[in-house]
Amino acid sequence: MGSELIYRRHESQPVSDSYSPKPDKPWASVVRPIRYMLREQRLVFVLVGIAIATLVFTVFPTSPAPRVPRHQFIDPIPDSISYFPVDAQNKFSHPHRVGLGSSNPAGKIPLGLKRKGLRIVVTGGAGFVGSHLVDRLIARGDSVIVVDNFFTGRKENVMHHFGNPNFELIRHDVVEPLLLEVDQIYHLACPASPVHYKFNPTNVVGTLNMLGLAKRVGARFLLTSTSEVYGDPLQHPQKETYWGNVNPIGVRSCYDEGKRTAETLTMDYHRGAGVEVRIARIFNTYGPRMCIDDGRVVSNFVAQALRKEPLTVYGDGKQTRSFQYVSDLVEGLMRLMEGEHVGPFNLGNPGEFTMLELAEVVQETIDPNAKIEFRPNTEDDPHKRKPDISRAKEQLGWEPKVSLRKGLPLMVSDFRQRIFGDHKEGSNTNNGESSS
Ligand SMILES: NC(=O)c1ccc[n+]([C@@H]2O[C@H](COP(=O)([O-])OP(=O)(O)OC[C@H]3O[C@@H](n4cnc5c(N)ncnc54)[C@H](O)[C@@H]3O)[C@@H](O)[C@H]2O)c1
Repeated sequence: MGSELIYRRHESQPVSDSYSPKPDKPWASVVRPIRYMLREQRLVFVLVGIAIATLVFTVFPTSPAPRVPRHQFIDPIPDSISYFPVDAQNKFSHPHRVGLGSSNPAGKIPLGLKRKGLRIVVTGGAGFVGSHLVDRLIARGDSVIVVDNFFTGRKENVMHHFGNPNFELIRHDVVEPLLLEVDQIYHLACPASPVHYKFNPTNVVGTLNMLGLAKRVGARFLLTSTSEVYGDPLQHPQKETYWGNVNPIGVRSCYDEGKRTAETLTMDYHRGAGVEVRIARIFNTYGPRMCIDDGRVVSNFVAQALRKEPLTVYGDGKQTRSFQYVSDLVEGLMRLMEGEHVGPFNLGNPGEFTMLELAEVVQETIDPNAKIEFRPNTEDDPHKRKPDISRAKEQLGWEPKVSLRKGLPLMVSDFRQRIFGDHKEGSNTNNGESSS
């Protein structure tokens, strides 16, 4: 068998005078296309193409921000729930999208490739601040996942995004771990008013879980801390370098110390695990969608004035606070997230009002006849609060734009609608008469 095979192979050996193609020269595969290009003048076209591409990538290294008319940014939010003052909309319709940092997956994108929206988690996104932030992120074209346990948040705050493929809502308590593939985490979930945080002080474990998520998926993490970390401050106005004067065992400590611990954990994850983090210290913020009866002073006064109840002032009313409109805060948070600086940054309006002055503005805006009623002050109530925002101005190019007198009416119309339903105040009698 073996010899047969050998024999046949011999048989099939080419006869010396039969046709045999010339063996290929090794350089022929290189020379032939070059000859072809020279003969057909293709080389000229290739060189011209390379020159044009080089020129374009040199002059426009990245895709410019998409030139979308302003109304297209605002459109995803129906007019009735767009609470940004018109000049704020103009100013903020193109947030900084360039300084995302080298490690961010949405960094530089060559011209011609459409920029991918970011995947962003907003914990506490169904709450007051969170829902306004979600509006802005969705309007910018990002995909947003809201994680909320609805402790103080409401579905109504984000319902206008239902059906939008870029929006998801997960009912989840952040004290339980969660795995999601995202680029950024805005961590807001935390009961923020005294009524609620005394009942459910959930700050620290939730922050730990979200930092763990950021570490695991390589996301950038932003903590919404608070001016309460300064306690009853001995420095005025408060700079970020001030360490605070906090009672560790008082009735407010679960919130104040909880946020201080959250800041510590955030910095530890940054230094120890290389997580990209940002810290915002938020000062009193007001606006539409605030909880109506949660004991925060602006919402208290507005609701009381609308209901024709006396405005309750605690203590002598001379303690000061500064009040920031929510669109200013959202702009600050987004700039912080997109910027290069870790912080902490004070985000607040440096305009300082005593509680009595605030009550006067509410009287001017809603009801000049509203009465003021004094009550004993609550424990550990800080005497003064006013942010020094030089750092945010310098490093984020941010400062608030909306004054209290301009922002308050925007909040009042939302509160009026929520308290009186569809009826405008004073319209009840008219309705009664017309129905009879
Ligand atoms: N509004 C302010 O003046 C102010 C000032 C300083 C700091 N902050 C901080 O900003 C963030 C948002 O505050 P806000 O005013 O929008 O309060 P908010 O109560 O309206 O929003 C908090 C949201 O977090 C949700 N939440 C609470 N605990 C949760 C949990 N364990 N799991 C999942 N979701 C949870 C609530 O349901 C709510 O939707 C908070 O972290 C707060 O501490 C707010």
